[in-house]
Amino acid sequence: MAKICSIVGARPQFIKADPVSRALSAAGHQEVLIHTGQHYDHAMSGIFFEELEIMPPAYSLGVGSGSHGAMTGQMLAAVEAALLREQPALVLVYGDTNSTLAGALAAAKLGVPIAHVEAGERSYDRRMPEEINRVVADSVADHHYCVSRTAVERLAAEGVTRSVHHVGDVMLDVMLRNLPRAQALSDIMARLELRPGAYALVTVHRAGNTDDPARLGQIAAILNGAPEPVVFPVHPRTRGALGRLGVRLAEHVRLIEPVGYLDMLALEQGARLIATDSGGVQREAYCLKVPCLVLRETTEWVEAVETGWTRLVDVTPEVALAAWRAMEPPVSHPPIFGDGTAGAQIVALLTEALANKEHETR
Ligand code: UD1
Ligand code: UDP
Repeated sequence: MAKICSIVGARPQFIKADPVSRALSAAGHQEVLIHTGQHYDHAMSGIFFEELEIMPPAYSLGVGSGSHGAMTGQMLAAVEAALLREQPALVLVYGDTNSTLAGALAAAKLGVPIAHVEAGERSYDRRMPEEINRVVADSVADHHYCVSRTAVERLAAEGVTRSVHHVGDVMLDVMLRNLPRAQALSDIMARLELRPGAYALVTVHRAGNTDDPARLGQIAAILNGAPEPVVFPVHPRTRGALGRLGVRLAEHVRLIEPVGYLDMLALEQGARLIATDSGGVQREAYCLKVPCLVLRETTEWVEAVETGWTRLVDVTPEVALAAWRAMEPPVSHPPIFGDGTAGAQIVALLTEALANKEHETR
């Protein structure tokens, strides 16, 4: 069996890596987890390792926050050193953060095969740092694991057709495993005195929304105009931006610290509506059958928009609030994010690819 290095660093990656790690271990592979340290607050990192019972990282590179170039550069050097020491047969990277970019580049320069989980996502908006990260990761990856058929088609349009697989969303795997745990263990609904169906859940953290005072002001106006109580777990980036802008939020908008995964599932499941700029939260809203407004100009998750469960409203208050009031759950709910077996499928495909490679080099 093979040694595989998994590179994670930001909140959604701890969650995404979990089902793949479980499947790697079940298949007898040796996984070496490398945490770049991009996210480091307990509420952004440690809590996910505890709640999901993820093995502690073998490497904690402690890179922390910084400008894109500085952060990515430090990660690149530190990940390279770890890979040189470990000599893995393959490197796994997830999604589209700076940790994904650094992990993929470090492996590519060392000639280590790369598997990209959540390959082929595109917003076609190069102003988003994530778009640059995905395009680079996909272009150097050897194996592409796609959430949707659309992602497979986008890669084909870029000429990437070798080792491209549609496996569904690892986030659905984690969600299905943890919904019963959230029901048993989370007390957040009681703690916040929330009734199911009687509030909206909001998350905002994209650079395009937090770093532009005009857009952040519009988002505040949307929340202030919302026709129901709003629960808003605030990402540290957004906390800082709201403070700098001196935004006043109405009493029905409740800001709370970022929550752990089980509390988040409970909050999502109980919400009448979710408004977000998060990629992961958009997909979770769909899988939990909660109508979702996307506070962005574009979304990668176009399949959910096509079903009517997600509406891309951007941040003009009148437009977003009209949709907020009118949004009703559609009737049909096709399985656009797969069947919750993405982790196992990825590991089966990887195992086969590694065996073939060994066969070729013998
Ligand atoms: C990053 C990803 C984004 C992903 C998000 C998930 C990039 C370019 N962006 O955005 O794609 O959707 O993670 O949440 O990789 N901070 C803290 N404590 C922490 C982490 C961050 O205070 O534990 C603050 C710091 O002020 C930091 C800022 O948040 O400068 C932004 O963090 P950073 O990791 O650069 O980007 P995110 O906005 O978190
Ligand atoms: N999440 C969480 N607590 C929060 C906010 C989000 O556990 O306070 C989870 C959410 O349920 C999803 C993931 O974090 O599984 C999404 O991460 P995020 O929104 O930070 O990043 P994105 O998906 O946009 O890259």
